[in-house]
Amino acid sequence: MVLASKSVAMSRTMFTRSLYQLQNLSRSNGLSLHSSSTNFKHAVLAAFQPLLHSRPYANNPQPAASASSVDQAELAKFAAIAESWWDAEGPFKPLHVMNPTRLTFIRSTLCRHFGKDPFSARPFEGLKFIDVGCGGGILSEPLARMGASVTGIDAVEKNIKIAQVHADLDPVASSIEYRCTTAENLVEEQMKFDAVIALEVIEHVANPDGFCKSLSALTKPHGATIISTINRSMRAYATAIVAAEYILHWLPKGTHQWSSFLTPEELVLTLQRASISVEEMAGFAYDPLTGQWSLTDDISVNFIAFGIKNSE
Ligand SMILES: C[S@@+](CC[C@H](N)C(=O)[O-])C[C@H]1O[C@@H](n2cnc3c(N)ncnc32)[C@H](O)[C@@H]1O
Repeated sequence: MVLASKSVAMSRTMFTRSLYQLQNLSRSNGLSLHSSSTNFKHAVLAAFQPLLHSRPYANNPQPAASASSVDQAELAKFAAIAESWWDAEGPFKPLHVMNPTRLTFIRSTLCRHFGKDPFSARPFEGLKFIDVGCGGGILSEPLARMGASVTGIDAVEKNIKIAQVHADLDPVASSIEYRCTTAENLVEEQMKFDAVIALEVIEHVANPDGFCKSLSALTKPHGATIISTINRSMRAYATAIVAAEYILHWLPKGTHQWSSFLTPEELVLTLQRASISVEEMAGFAYDPLTGQWSLTDDISVNFIAFGIKNSE
């Protein structure tokens, strides 16, 4: 209990600090932030061109919200390693190891938002969640065990099959409704959820702006949206790509493209355009001595954001 209340308090402090950092960044840079960051991005992209696959986001005209979020080349990467979703030592090991920390953030933000008891065994009882880009169900399963009624969707058929087979091993997880589809398809079906969660997905979609609009359309008014991703920083290039893919071999080479990452400011603005106000943000810190992740106010590499859908 002490740990949980510590994490809630820490999360609140991070929220204040991180939003403060963001506000300061925008205030101090104003419009010039956009032009200087664009120049910086051009310089970095040029310098690393041989290492980067070109998939620029911010420079392109933004596609319509209804455009497909599917990037076939990205999906092919996940289809190729789908069998290893539940291999805790395989290519998804980083997600398995990060999961308890991601769940700490999700539990504390969503319990506070929905007025639920974070110390209860099934705090999400009565709430409808969707896990967008659920992969093999690493996150969907614990959410279901915490009482949520969970829909898990992924654009890769193989992922959904693996997720279903694994969930069927557990009576609680077998309540999860898995579907091979996209967020934009469910918008057409007019589906709505109390919380829409998309962890480590936005950096793999074709149209981040439209993707966020679809996540927003799936969120009930005053519902919650949670997104985690990787910052487009030099530190992320060094750690999340060079170290994780080329030195430590945690992930297959080419899993991530630096140019597809969003900075926290870009994510906040993208969500704002989609009628979602970011209320809280935290970073993830890896401790090489313990091999564990923890929440931090350093959002320079991996980070997670909690937002609330504006009332319609
Ligand atoms: C890095 S994995 C994250 C899996 C899961 N969210 C987690 O964090 O444990 C990204 C997942 O997003 C899925 N994906 C990529 N683009 C998608 C899209 N446009 N719509 C739905 N799923 C997508 C991939 O198939 C893959 O399973």
